Amino acid sequence: MSKSVPYITLNDDKMMPQLGLGVWKASEAQAREAVRHAFETGYRSIDTAAAYNNERGVGEGLKDAALPRESYFVTTKVWNADQGAQAAHEAALRSLEQLGLDYVDLLLIHWPLPDKNLYVKTWKALIALKEEGRALSIGVSNFNPVHLQRLIDETGVTPAVNQIETHPYFQRADLREVHRKLGIHTEAWSPLAQGKVTEDPALRAIADKYGKTPAQVVLRWHLDNGVIVIPKSVTPERITSNFAVFDFALSDEDRARIDALDRNERLGPDPETFNLDT
Ligand SMILES: NC(=O)c1ccc[n+]([C@@H]2O[C@H](COP(=O)([O-])OP(=O)(O)OC[C@H]3O[C@@H](n4cnc5c(N)ncnc54)[C@H](OP(=O)(O)O)[C@@H]3O)[C@@H](O)[C@H]2O)c1
Repeated sequence: MSKSVPYITLNDDKMMPQLGLGVWKASEAQAREAVRHAFETGYRSIDTAAAYNNERGVGEGLKDAALPRESYFVTTKVWNADQGAQAAHEAALRSLEQLGLDYVDLLLIHWPLPDKNLYVKTWKALIALKEEGRALSIGVSNFNPVHLQRLIDETGVTPAVNQIETHPYFQRADLREVHRKLGIHTEAWSPLAQGKVTEDPALRAIADKYGKTPAQVVLRWHLDNGVIVIPKSVTPERITSNFAVFDFALSDEDRARIDALDRNERLGPDPETFNLDT
């Protein structure tokens, strides 16, 4: 069994580490320190967003690590207030400036905002940014099947990734199946249910069998499902332990026990109605 992070081949033939570090809610200083520690641990992928207000800290952490640019993968996202052709283009260039990078590996539309009805125009801006070499891959976040299909029908370009809320309590098998049929990779946000999995007795019992933590067992389960994960932590020991998931295998029975924890429990907003654009 490989003990290093596996890579997923996206639908544009680019490679993405299947496990990365999320930095939502981290301050600039925390993000810098978390990125530095993560890179020392072996992580090679960071997930940030303009809305997290820590792209500059991420960029400083990347500089501290001083690794060759092609050896790591950076994702950022165009925020809701910046939807539309020109605004999205400008927002992406601002993100690059904050990060101190010439390009990101993956650029996402953060939310669809169906009422605003600008996500197709925004997608066209991302297509242009990819053509300009400012984003090597482009994708979306929080898109439902109807939104995905519209992008494909109106531009002919399929997102490489849809980053969605998914964890043992909100497994979204139907949406993952839509992704599979469309050739879109599923990326999980809140893969640890924002830390809630650590308190779950069923997950604790499974974890004890393997000498692992509930968080490690849940990350292993996501990876086994082919899902890309970006657990967030600013705690060095947790950043390290969340990466120690490549040296054990769950049994089919234990995977099925985790499958059985689904209770359709969403922790974040519903993309159909989420309209925040400030
Ligand atoms: N696209 C979107 O709309 C969207 C929405 C939400 C999140 N995201 C992305 O997805 C990433 C992950 O999601 P998330 O931050 O919501 O939730 P998460 O990764 O499921 O959980 C993070 C929380 O769990 C704690 N934690 C991390 N590892 C732990 C461990 N081993 N044991 C116990 N607690 C642990 C963290 O605390 P400490 O930091 O204090 O260690 C933090 O409070 C975000 O950082 C962001 O990059 C995207």
